[in-house]
Amino acid sequence: MTSSDFPDIAAVLFDAYGTLFDVHSAVAHEAGALGDQADPVSQLWRRKQLEYTWLRSLMRAHADFHQVTADALDHALAAHGIDDRELRERLLELYLTLNAYPEVPDTLDRIRAKGIGTAILSNGEPRMLTAATDSANLRARLDDVISVEPVGIYKPDPRVYELGAERMGVSAGRIAFVSANAWDACGAAHFGFQVIWLNRFGATPEQLPGTPKATATTLDDVADLLGC
Ligand code: LAC
Repeated sequence: MTSSDFPDIAAVLFDAYGTLFDVHSAVAHEAGALGDQADPVSQLWRRKQLEYTWLRSLMRAHADFHQVTADALDHALAAHGIDDRELRERLLELYLTLNAYPEVPDTLDRIRAKGIGTAILSNGEPRMLTAATDSANLRARLDDVISVEPVGIYKPDPRVYELGAERMGVSAGRIAFVSANAWDACGAAHFGFQVIWLNRFGATPEQLPGTPKATATTLDDVADLLGC
């Protein structure tokens, strides 16, 4: 695939968690306290966090992503027989300053150097997103940081992707959307964005409506695909 497959892109919207930020870096900081349980706890925490977003959306019982993240952590710790209030608090605090993947700043700079807008479109609630972008020194590299909170429902509800296009002031067809979450990539493609699925870990494609236009393995590849 060459850059000509993504002509006329005016803005690139990035998913946050898993795409720009390593969701497992919070538990990694507490590996000493969790021992062998670190990886299973982190995997279950993330899985439940996403499930709760989908289930709350279906139940029409929205709670913000900070609450959902805390609820999912409580489930993951309980499922592993861990009852440690201080560890819980430390993990939630660490979630506010997750590590950004190393190639993030350079990728954003490359895209912006071509005059293409950059923003985050995320399930995260504003306080979490501000903390994460500030701690990774990304704020000046983004035109906007868009949370689902104004629409009160989670991805892949089309209202979220619509909010992204509205906030950027760009039609959906001129937006490239980048997500490492395959289901999010499908949802965004189904909505009408030009999607790059960032398949960092060799995941199997989802069987869902909406087909990403391209697949990348790192954000450097994303910049290449966009011709930046
Ligand atoms: C987000 C989740 C899906 O940032 O990772 O929206």
